[in-house]
Order: sequence, then C-alpha cells, then structure tokens
Amino acid sequence: MVTSSRSSEADSAVAAWLFAGTLDDVWEGEMCAVDLDGAEVLLCNLDGELFAYEDRCPHLANPLSQGDLSEGVLTCAAHEWQFDARSGHGVNPASVCLHRYPLRLDGDRIFVGVGEDE
Ligand code: FES
Repeated sequence: MVTSSRSSEADSAVAAWLFAGTLDDVWEGEMCAVDLDGAEVLLCNLDGELFAYEDRCPHLANPLSQGDLSEGVLTCAAHEWQFDARSGHGVNPASVCLHRYPLRLDGDRIFVGVGEDE
C-alpha cells in the first residue's frame, strides 16, 4: 500500500497543489525528478511511502536526482553528502537538511504542495 508523507501544518500553508505524476512514475525504492511550475522537485518512494524534496543539494546545488537512493539514504552524486530520505535530515554531514514539500495522493495521482499562502 502506498501512503503519502503529509503534514497538516504544512498543508494549511500551501498555495497550490500541483500534479506531479502517478504511482507508475516512481516505483518502490526509486526516485524521480519533476518540474512543477519551475520548482525542481525530487519524489522518493520508500517502501510505498512517498516523500518530496527540493531537487537541489544544500552543498553546491547539484540535482539530488542524479545521485543514488539506497536503503533509505539519498547520496548526492557530486561529493557524496548523504541524507535520510524519510526525514531529509543530513546523515553526513548531520548539520544540514533538505527542503521538504508536502505531498498528498488522490488515488494513484501524486500532488505536491508548492508555494506558501501570504
Ligand atoms: S553538491 Fe551535493 S555533495 Fe556537493
């Protein structure tokens, strides 16, 4: 069963929910990049749970979608910084964190919340 990673607090601040694809686009254990109105977003499917992050490494902005996703750890291809793909928190180094987007499912359709209400 596929679930979405949601935050009701974050949901309330979302300006727009944009269609990001379907579950066929990101299988379990995989990730993919999508452009949502100019926002580069990385979708990760971890054991059926979906997560959305900015597709940009906090080190030198390399697209994280060019890296590797293995055993819940996202590794940047450029200099091998690593992130917990469930939380976005840095594994190495631990002092960094990815920007996470709220995500919701409507059947097999994936929607990502972008922007914030003023
Ligand atoms: S740009 Fe990602 S580790 Fe350097």
